[in-house]
Amino acid sequence: MNLRNLDGVDIQPNQRVNFIYGANGSGKTSLLEAVSFLGTGRSFRSHKLKPVICRDADTMTIFGNIAVSDRQEVPIGIQRSVSGQSLIKVDGIQVNSAARLAENLPLQLIDSHSFLLLEGSPKVRRQFLDWLVFHVKPEFLPAWKGVQRCIKHRNSLLRHGRIEASLIAPWDTELAGFAHKVDQLRQDCFGAFVETFNQLINDFLPINDLTLNYYRGWEHGLDYKDFLARQIDRDRHLGYTAGGPHRADIRINIGRDSAAQLLSRGQQKLLVCALRISQGLTFSELSSRQCVFLIDDLPAELDSDHRKLLAGWLDTMACQVFVTGVERDVLIESWPQTLAGNKKAVFHVEQGSVSND
Ligand SMILES: Nc1ncnc2c1ncn2[C@@H]1O[C@H](COP(=O)(O)OP(=O)(O)OP(=O)(O)O)[C@@H](O)[C@H]1O
Ligand SMILES: [Mg+2]
Repeated sequence: MNLRNLDGVDIQPNQRVNFIYGANGSGKTSLLEAVSFLGTGRSFRSHKLKPVICRDADTMTIFGNIAVSDRQEVPIGIQRSVSGQSLIKVDGIQVNSAARLAENLPLQLIDSHSFLLLEGSPKVRRQFLDWLVFHVKPEFLPAWKGVQRCIKHRNSLLRHGRIEASLIAPWDTELAGFAHKVDQLRQDCFGAFVETFNQLINDFLPINDLTLNYYRGWEHGLDYKDFLARQIDRDRHLGYTAGGPHRADIRINIGRDSAAQLLSRGQQKLLVCALRISQGLTFSELSSRQCVFLIDDLPAELDSDHRKLLAGWLDTMACQVFVTGVERDVLIESWPQTLAGNKKAVFHVEQGSVSND
């Protein structure tokens, strides 16, 4: 392993609820990070690799068997080195893209940074929406890569001042094709998502006038190619393409104000829980699969009633959950007492070692 303070860790998680408890600094969040590596190829805590690999080691290795259906398991192996070397194997075959990991292990995370979904930049919400679109619409990834490639070329032309219409036009045509595809797929998924969200938000946060709106990144009702033509002077001045699917957002408002400005930190957490649960429900509705929830330090995030509420939803979804907290009983008592013994596992983390409890 050699992930932070974890080494020699070998666990058999339950397919439903995994309670992970231990003292501060024992390695609980690091264990969730290990799962995150199997599903995304990276940590949710650090963009850099160096802080994640154990200080005394050069290389970190993580293996996992992912049950992608009742009958099929996919072995995943990841090795990352301080020197920058990276090796990812899915089902014994080396792959270059982390997208191959996400396909097998769709993850949703709730942790102390979750409020950034509301307070952070549009990119955070765009990535949240695109998680769903990526997982349920196979056409999305090639279209999105197309958008990124065309915008890169277009921006490089704009930056170099080479902006004769004849040079930009071919990129605009190709870009518009990809942009409308991406927009359509996002709209489809967002529609399904909002329907689910509206059914459960009152359980978490009974607030009137809470609305979610998808903003596609450019003017409503306008063909993207026409929009680009209209904006060319501005883009030329800026040196990049200002509007488009790469600027899409989900606008979360209460009345006319942004929810991030009005809600208390606790209310923000509840709203984020509702968003993530809706995401999981919509994913399973559209794909007939379940995602895996990672919940870091549940008691620090929610009070007792809301812990029970969140656990109740996760129990109804019957998805796999990895949930951490300092105190064992606080965690277990959050879940419905009807949860059968064979549907849970309890792990105790102590100074980088993990044992079954
Ligand atoms: N690169 C590293 N190499 C070795 N140890 C590390 C490294 N990075 C962090 N640690 C240590 O790993 C330990 C586990 O950290 P982790 O954040 O997983 O703890 P935790 O159980 O989640 O604690 P808390 O309850 O405070 O959230 C900490 O003691 C931390 O100092
Ligand atoms: Mg922690």
